[in-house]
Amino acid sequence: MSNVSRLGVLGLAALISLGGAHAASPDPTLIEKGRALFADKSLSAGGVIACANCHPNNGHTDNKSYASLEVVADGDPKGRSTPTLWGAGTRSVYAWAGTAPALEGNIRGIIVNRMKGAEPAPETLAALSAYVRSLTPPRTGNIADDGTPADKAPAAVKRGFALFTGPGGCGACHVPGSFDKAEIEDVGTEGKFKVPSLWSVSQTAPYLHDGRTKSLAEAAKAMWEANGKKIGKPSSPSEAQLADLLAYLNSL
Ligand code: HEC
Ligand code: HEC
Repeated sequence: MSNVSRLGVLGLAALISLGGAHAASPDPTLIEKGRALFADKSLSAGGVIACANCHPNNGHTDNKSYASLEVVADGDPKGRSTPTLWGAGTRSVYAWAGTAPALEGNIRGIIVNRMKGAEPAPETLAALSAYVRSLTPPRTGNIADDGTPADKAPAAVKRGFALFTGPGGCGACHVPGSFDKAEIEDVGTEGKFKVPSLWSVSQTAPYLHDGRTKSLAEAAKAMWEANGKKIGKPSSPSEAQLADLLAYLNSL
């Protein structure tokens, strides 16, 4: 197998993009070691599950909600929706509770608490983290790295961005660029949670910490209404506004 086909499209895209935002010259050998560990069930108690089981397709999401290692119904208050790890190397904060400030510590917690595995060696955490940092989200070409629409983006996408940063109020929490922020927020979902990044959001259903919402349209509408309540100006998006907002979100 050639190196290129072994890396896969995402790995290749990640390598190509290394000249850009993450110029900390990642070590390809460490990334490859991390990729192997990511598929290694022996990190879990009894060797039952690997990272890649829940984050298949090069660290993406299996679109399921879990309590520990059990799949639970979406919306179960004990369940947590599996996030994509594409782009997870640069999140402002980790875990739905927003409690893990660093990637290494978050991964350690998953191995020890969720997978009930042995305390990982620092080398194991370094390799897994290097692998996760190599997973940049695929871009649609319609949105620049700072979150602004490209010149060639359809008009609906540009109108959607104006709503996102304007009347929708989204940009105050989902700060364009990272589309997240470090502070946890209450948006009427029974508690304060991390502000999730929205890159690749069209592919990460179900939505919200417990996976209670299946469709992106429903999630975006609920967010618009939650923001209105929060700022004391209740409103719902019109059908046309929601369509434009979705055109933007689907381009991320
Ligand atoms: C049983 C399924 C499952 C397995 C196995 C699993 N994860 Fe996850 N992962 C999840 C779920 C669910 C969450 C969200 C949990 C939360 O935030 O409370 C998550 C969250 C994460 C996050 C945080 C992402 C963010 O943006 O906050 C990282 C990083 C991560 N996993 C990496 C890994 C690595 C590395 C492994 C292997 C050592 C692994 N996961 C194994 C299901 C899994
Ligand atoms: C006050 C801060 C805040 C504002 C304003 C806000 N959000 Fe959110 N958003 C959050 C938080 C916090 C969550 C996670 C809540 C949870 O999981 O229960 C979230 C979750 C989401 C999700 C689900 C993502 C996923 O991976 O599950 C989408 C989609 C979303 N927001 C879009 C929007 C849009 C579109 C707007 C504007 C109309 C908006 N948000 C406004 C804080 C905010």
